[in-house]
Amino acid sequence: MLSMFFAPETKEAAKAAAGAAAPVVEKAAAAAPKLPPLETAHNWALPTEASTFARSTDNLYLFIVALDVFFFVLVIGAMVYFMWKYKRRSEDQKTSSITHNGKIEFLWSAIPAVLLVVIFAWAEIDYLKQTTPPADAINIRVVGRQWFWTVEYPDNPGVSLTSNVDEPQLTMIVPKGRPVRLTMTSEDVLHSFYIPAFRIKKDVVPGRYTTLWFEATTVGEFNIFCAEYCGDRHSSMTGVIKVLEPEMYEAALKEASKLEAKPGEAPAEFGRRIYTRRGCNACHTLDGAPATGPSWKALYGRQETMADGSSLTVDDNYITESILRPQAKIVAGFTGAQMPSYQGQLDQKQIAALIEFIKTQK
Ligand code: CUA
Repeated sequence: MLSMFFAPETKEAAKAAAGAAAPVVEKAAAAAPKLPPLETAHNWALPTEASTFARSTDNLYLFIVALDVFFFVLVIGAMVYFMWKYKRRSEDQKTSSITHNGKIEFLWSAIPAVLLVVIFAWAEIDYLKQTTPPADAINIRVVGRQWFWTVEYPDNPGVSLTSNVDEPQLTMIVPKGRPVRLTMTSEDVLHSFYIPAFRIKKDVVPGRYTTLWFEATTVGEFNIFCAEYCGDRHSSMTGVIKVLEPEMYEAALKEASKLEAKPGEAPAEFGRRIYTRRGCNACHTLDGAPATGPSWKALYGRQETMADGSSLTVDDNYITESILRPQAKIVAGFTGAQMPSYQGQLDQKQIAALIEFIKTQK
């Protein structure tokens, strides 16, 4: 998984690294569609440029770097030269008295002032472009949660993709050359939605909506990161955005959001896929360690004490209720605040498969 952060030079290297690093998720990975991670930039270079904003952002950045280098050489060079030129040459040499030089002082104020205004105007023009989405943009809604992204397409009801804390997983699909507007919010804490290849990043804030827009220019797969520390698995809050030719977009969207049992697939195996595809694994471990929510190890049939002191046996009814109305009965020691309702997100077949999967976690 870490391989994606080191921008592997080749897809082969990335695959090898992913294989070596992830024995724990091997089984889940085998079930999920294979996605090679990701951009192949050199680690000393700027990230891949894959949106209409990328080039102009980089141009401004390189302009500022060039200015910095120029003035660094100028100032340090002048300093070294003067140190050598005006070095004290004898014990009794006196420093000559200098008050000031109006002309030089004017220039070293005026020239940087003009340059700063140029940087400001340049950045402001780019910023205005980046904050005004075109009216014909495709709408996509993004929700951040500890620690996954949920992506929904209002124009394609029912289409929903999520990221995955255990491995990079297809999280968003967009067509090339079409503007896309993201409306984003958080269900818990501050997150920040970041696509380096597009040069876009914005905070995702609980209780309010923020927006971002972009137009992808390159077909391919690119990293999505959370860029705001949001808890102990923040660094796993990563996803994959896929840019496709416009004519392939709708079909790919349908295909990617499909979550049905494959022919011949055991319900428990289907349940395992839902566990990773719908983000359950962000909060529920399989190894017995309590996380944001109770672990699923030996969960089925367990006697649980509830927050209100009552107790119950975990069965199909309790699990279904907890998926659809998570706040109804909370296990003692947990708040339940982070558990979203999956009403309308998971159907009866999917819930049944999840229950079968939970039963296999002994
Ligand atoms: Cu979400 Cu960091």
